[in-house]
Amino acid sequence: MSKEDALKKMGEQAAQKITSGQLVGLGSGSAVAAFVNALGKRITDENLDVRGIPTSMQVEIIAQNNGIVLESPSLIPEIDVVVDGADEIDKNHIMIKGGGGAHYREKIMIEAANHSIIVADSSKYVDVITWPVPLEVSEFSRFFVEEKIKSNGGNPVLRTLNKGYPFFTQNGNLVIDAHFNQITEPLKLEQLLLNIPGIIANGIFSMKIDTFLRANEDGSVEVG
Ligand code: 5RP
Repeated sequence: MSKEDALKKMGEQAAQKITSGQLVGLGSGSAVAAFVNALGKRITDENLDVRGIPTSMQVEIIAQNNGIVLESPSLIPEIDVVVDGADEIDKNHIMIKGGGGAHYREKIMIEAANHSIIVADSSKYVDVITWPVPLEVSEFSRFFVEEKIKSNGGNPVLRTLNKGYPFFTQNGNLVIDAHFNQITEPLKLEQLLLNIPGIIANGIFSMKIDTFLRANEDGSVEVG
């Protein structure tokens, strides 16, 4: 089965977990897009009263295309359930997020929600994290943070678009992808990053997640 079809099946399974009356936090990425498409279909077919709050313009557009009513960030403390993706998930369920640069908002939504669901294909589940850690930084703090990452054994790479233009987050900030090769002690690294002034949000997510869904290549969806 193609990855797209596997994500579609997982998205449908995640959408089944949403009930009428709920306010849903919408994470970002392709796995979340499959969920939002499936949720939109359920809302239409079953006339559900479900509203969403997006973490990025990427998911905002997909939600709008599906006719999902969107609420303002003032209602974030009332989110019932959030559905989000991940870039890597280690054996202790510590995640790296921010491949789309939306990790600042995603972290807030996951912490705020009563229930959290992560949707990710099987390639994202690893023993040890090797994915670079996305760091949202202001232009002012860029060089200071880069030096701090280097002095702690990392290789900071400013995220750019085609032709070298810098990538800006929806908060108007830059993203430095901090390469550390293998991250065997993610909690220690998270603390280190939290203590560096100028890092607005780091992509290590160590909070407790209620449900992980894994889309396998054969089309099965595992809970774990
Ligand atoms: C965006 C994210 C995404 O959830 C993460 O990059 C996964 O995306 P995809 O499902 O497209 O692989 O953290 O900042």
